Amino acid sequence: MTTLMGKSCCMLFFVLLLTSSIFLGHSKKLNQNEPCNRLKLFYHDTMFNGTNVSNATAATVANATKLGNFNFGMLVVFDDPMTVDNHFVSSPVARAQGFYFYDMKTTYNAWFAYTLVFNSTKYNGTINIMGADIMGEETRDLSVVGGTGDFFMARGIATFRTDTFEGADYFRLEMDIKLYECY
Ligand SMILES: *[C@@H]1O[C@H](CO)[C@@H](O)[C@H](O)[C@H]1NC(C)=O
Ligand SMILES: *[C@@H]1O[C@H](CO)[C@@H](O)[C@H](O)[C@H]1NC(C)=O
Ligand SMILES: *[C@@H]1O[C@H](CO)[C@@H](O)[C@H](O)[C@H]1NC(C)=O
Ligand SMILES: *[C@@H]1O[C@H](CO)[C@@H](O)[C@H](O)[C@H]1NC(C)=O
Ligand SMILES: *[C@@H]1O[C@H](CO)[C@@H](O)[C@H](O)[C@H]1NC(C)=O
Ligand SMILES: *[C@@H]1O[C@H](CO)[C@@H](O)[C@H](O)[C@H]1NC(C)=O
Repeated sequence: MTTLMGKSCCMLFFVLLLTSSIFLGHSKKLNQNEPCNRLKLFYHDTMFNGTNVSNATAATVANATKLGNFNFGMLVVFDDPMTVDNHFVSSPVARAQGFYFYDMKTTYNAWFAYTLVFNSTKYNGTINIMGADIMGEETRDLSVVGGTGDFFMARGIATFRTDTFEGADYFRLEMDIKLYECY
């Protein structure tokens, strides 16, 4: 009898422990509308066209294939300025360094992986971002997968919106970066 009591006591304790850990897990729910840090920046992508060395900041390193008509396989490497407003001549607050490639046969679609490098008195550190840029959508959410320095262990969402598109030469994206983990 006593051993049975002991056993069921033990069971109860275990069940309590389990439910409380599940409960604690749920209590860590994040609110999308309450980021712990938020930066809205503009990304300027000026393509190198073969002669325009002085102000190009991105270049095609692998050409599009003939699979479809939407640049499938084209890879672009960039070191682009990031500004707080959408003026090309505003002084950059960070640089976006990384690449994108087109990865869809039936429409324009790209995949981005890059680092925002901050090196100023306001922010010093990096934010790493990657994900699909589904260009047909008005806004696209990419993942903030990590950070360093002032953005140590950051995680969140970077929402893209195309601000302007000037053919193959230049395009500008608004990047609304919302962090939900800040340390
Ligand atoms: C590159 O752009 C410059 C300036 O817009 C233009 O003068 C030049 O002809 C272009 N080169 C090519 C190869 O398209
Ligand atoms: C190329 O560079 C020239 C000179 O810096 C500039 O006037 C022109 O707008 C640029 N063109 C493109 C397509 O970036
Ligand atoms: C290239 O740089 C020049 C100034 O050097 C600027 O007027 C022009 O708008 C730039 N080109 C693009 C496509 O932003
Ligand atoms: C891509 O193709 C164009 C012409 O179609 C050519 O001028 C250019 O050199 C090629 N670029 C690379 C990186 O192969
Ligand atoms: C960062 O800024 C410092 C001070 O202005 C400068 O010495 C350093 O070269 C910069 N580093 C990079 C990677 O731009
Ligand atoms: C940013 O941090 C790095 C490494 O700690 C340091 O070398 C650099 O000088 C800092 N830059 C600025 C502008 O404070």
